[in-house]
Amino acid sequence: MNKHMLRQQVNSAYQNLSGNDRLKAEKKIYEYLFQWSGWKQAETIAVTVSLKNEINTGPIIETGWQQGKRMCVPKIEPEQRGMDFYEIQAFGELERTIGQIYEPKKNICPLVPPEQLDLVLVPGLVFNRQGYRIGFGGGYYDRFLKRADFSTAALIHPFQLQDRIPVEAHDVPVQTLISSQGLIHVE
Ligand SMILES: Nc1ncnc2c1ncn2[C@@H]1O[C@H](COP(=O)(O)OP(=O)(O)OP(=O)(O)O)[C@@H](O)[C@H]1O
Ligand SMILES: [Mg+2]
Repeated sequence: MNKHMLRQQVNSAYQNLSGNDRLKAEKKIYEYLFQWSGWKQAETIAVTVSLKNEINTGPIIETGWQQGKRMCVPKIEPEQRGMDFYEIQAFGELERTIGQIYEPKKNICPLVPPEQLDLVLVPGLVFNRQGYRIGFGGGYYDRFLKRADFSTAALIHPFQLQDRIPVEAHDVPVQTLISSQGLIHVE
């Protein structure tokens, strides 16, 4: 199956997930995440603000704040074909930008250089057990993860795991997958 079909398949599986099943799965995912040493050890964490068909990252950001962690959210810079992470301390520091995603307000949030990140929670639609992923197609995470000196993890529903996905030379796998059924360590 090609990337387009795999993305479609996952999106329709999301549509078919009932609100209740979704909440139950997310609760389990949060439990596994917050018990994981990679989370506990991390002081500075990068995470995206989820949209509808994604695992809700709001409670993750809030828990991070409660635990005294620095929570950082990306802002895409299409002209540089890159992205920068900014620390947010309240949801009011976000604004809706291109593609209706939530990004940090650059003028009030401090920039956090990549070398300060301990853990990056990587978004994506489809994954395999080697940690390879199909993202949203911009290549932003692939370019960013190339210089990784932090640990990486992705939060997924079981239906986002596929045996075979197309992998290209520029694709960068994540190290840990966390689902409602537990952790998969890739490395
Ligand atoms: N390291 C790279 N160097 C140059 N171009 C890249 C690199 N990584 C990705 N790209 C470009 O980005 C495009 C999209 O990449 P890909 O299809 O892997 O996206 P994706 O993994 O779905 O997106 P994302 O990483 O943003 O979630 C590719 O066609 C490629 O041209
Ligand atoms: Mg890719």
